[in-house]
Amino acid sequence: MAIEFNDGDGRQEERIVTGGFIEEDENEVSLRPHTMDEYIGQTKAKENLSVFIKAAKQRGDQLDHVLLYGPPGLGKTTLAGIIAAEMGVNIRITSGPAIEKAGDLAALLTNLNKNDVLFIDEIHRLNRSVEEILYPAMEDFALDIIIGKGPAARSVRLDLPRFTLVGATTRAGRISGPLRDRFGVISRLELYTHEELATIVKRSASILGIEIEADGALEIASRARGTPRLANRLIKRVRDFAQVDGDGVITGKVAKTALEALDIDPLGLDMIDRRMLESIIYNFNGGPVGLETLAATIGEEAVTLEDVYEPYLMQIGFLNRTPRGRCATPKAYGHLNIPYAGQLEM
Ligand code: ADE
Repeated sequence: MAIEFNDGDGRQEERIVTGGFIEEDENEVSLRPHTMDEYIGQTKAKENLSVFIKAAKQRGDQLDHVLLYGPPGLGKTTLAGIIAAEMGVNIRITSGPAIEKAGDLAALLTNLNKNDVLFIDEIHRLNRSVEEILYPAMEDFALDIIIGKGPAARSVRLDLPRFTLVGATTRAGRISGPLRDRFGVISRLELYTHEELATIVKRSASILGIEIEADGALEIASRARGTPRLANRLIKRVRDFAQVDGDGVITGKVAKTALEALDIDPLGLDMIDRRMLESIIYNFNGGPVGLETLAATIGEEAVTLEDVYEPYLMQIGFLNRTPRGRCATPKAYGHLNIPYAGQLEM
């Protein structure tokens, strides 16, 4: 089964278990929760944000700028929408690569109303000249515009409404220091637990009118790599199997058969994860191997490995990042049925 997708970094890939947004996720929008109460998981981020939102509303102020970071598919855009809804303001949604020129950002900023939310996805991909416009906008709610050219050029300061910038990125480390320092709230989103994902799966199935049993939901949840976007994608694929092979109800058995047919193993690993681990084990004696070398060996980009594949493999204890490179753990050997004989580099 091959699905074309765009992983958010503009690359086309074939992988059903990506956390990145792909075309078939379009009706994901209808599954998005609209309030903090409806939003499952991310307890820490949610609790903190709820306090800051309440306090800002009591003061009649805009919410401080918020940076959300974490692997793709965990609900950064959803959370930005909820922040705006809970603040009772409008949200404008854009992304780093979509803002090509300083003028594009100026147009967005001057169209905001007081306390509105501007959401910039993939904020680490803003270009320098745009980023520099953002500094005074975030700090002083002002836009410095240069009028004229050469010796006659002069700078004019334009006041902006007080607004909240919500920035999202797969990794906070990719954002420049000056930009990061201008966010008052920095929130890291974590991979979801199986129980949280099972709750999300049941909620989504109910919205989509799909009948699902508890063990069907848990089967999908445990193979969804801690990522709601993937869980929601898998529900639809599993439903197809339930409809064709059964009576349309997603039982544990149907889910298991369907996910095996999609080459997604009981821990949610797909061919590429397995290829990556096997490459570390067979080609590099279990590691350590440098990220770039590993990426070249399996034909992926280093950033994709780092942002999309590694967080989950590390979370389940299959991969270690050491100062000298990546290592497969004995647990990974066990999962792949490969005898482990070596010393683990820590
Ligand atoms: N759908 C996708 N993510 C969700 C979440 N965190 N809570 C509820 N429904 C969701």
